[in-house]
Amino acid sequence: MATKIVLLGLLALTCSLALASDHSPLQDFCVADPNAQVKVNGLACKDAKIVQANDFFFAGLHLMGNTSNPVGSRVTPVTVAQLPGLNTLGISMARIDYAPKGINPPHTHPRASEILTVLDGSLEVGFVTSNPDNLLITKVLQKGDVFVFPVNLIHFQRNVGQGNAIAIAALSSQNPGVITIANAVFGSKPDISADILSKAFQIDQNIIYQIQSKF
Ligand SMILES: *[C@@H]1O[C@H](CO)[C@@H](O)[C@H](O)[C@H]1NC(C)=O
Repeated sequence: MATKIVLLGLLALTCSLALASDHSPLQDFCVADPNAQVKVNGLACKDAKIVQANDFFFAGLHLMGNTSNPVGSRVTPVTVAQLPGLNTLGISMARIDYAPKGINPPHTHPRASEILTVLDGSLEVGFVTSNPDNLLITKVLQKGDVFVFPVNLIHFQRNVGQGNAIAIAALSSQNPGVITIANAVFGSKPDISADILSKAFQIDQNIIYQIQSKF
């Protein structure tokens, strides 16, 4: 009996590890076919005979993103949605532009760790460990510096330089997903009850309504 429980435990552990990241490809490539009718975990493969170089290609990452928005940053993603050849490969990337004082607000990627390098400017970056410690791990990065945000953890960046800043991030999923904390908590559709948020944040309900009105 005890052996059985240990075995089940081991099995559960192995499964959770295996399912925690994108699956390995079972052929050279599986270029996403957005028109396929079949539903799979990921996207169905385009016929390999009609695959072209452009299926593995994306242009324009040298272009600055528009940072004229309340947070002063812009993410230009290159995931399987923009580059169909990424399907089943377990990787993607993004360019992030920051206006002076701009931030990439606290968010998580449910399916990816992220490794970020600063191409220009100076960024304060950080992530918070899970409960109960909730330690803030933070550092100021300069051009050429690299920092990693472990999968699932809440992280952010802030431009602390004089001019614009640029970063390139690589992510360990073809479709990392993003949960922006403020938008998810205060901008859900429909709203999470102000009573719930008021107790969760230990703050007056009117302040909750005020925050909700901004998302
Ligand atoms: C940038 O975004 C702002 C706000 O949406 C818009 O008004 C402006 O025209 C955009 N600028 C460019 C160059 O696209």
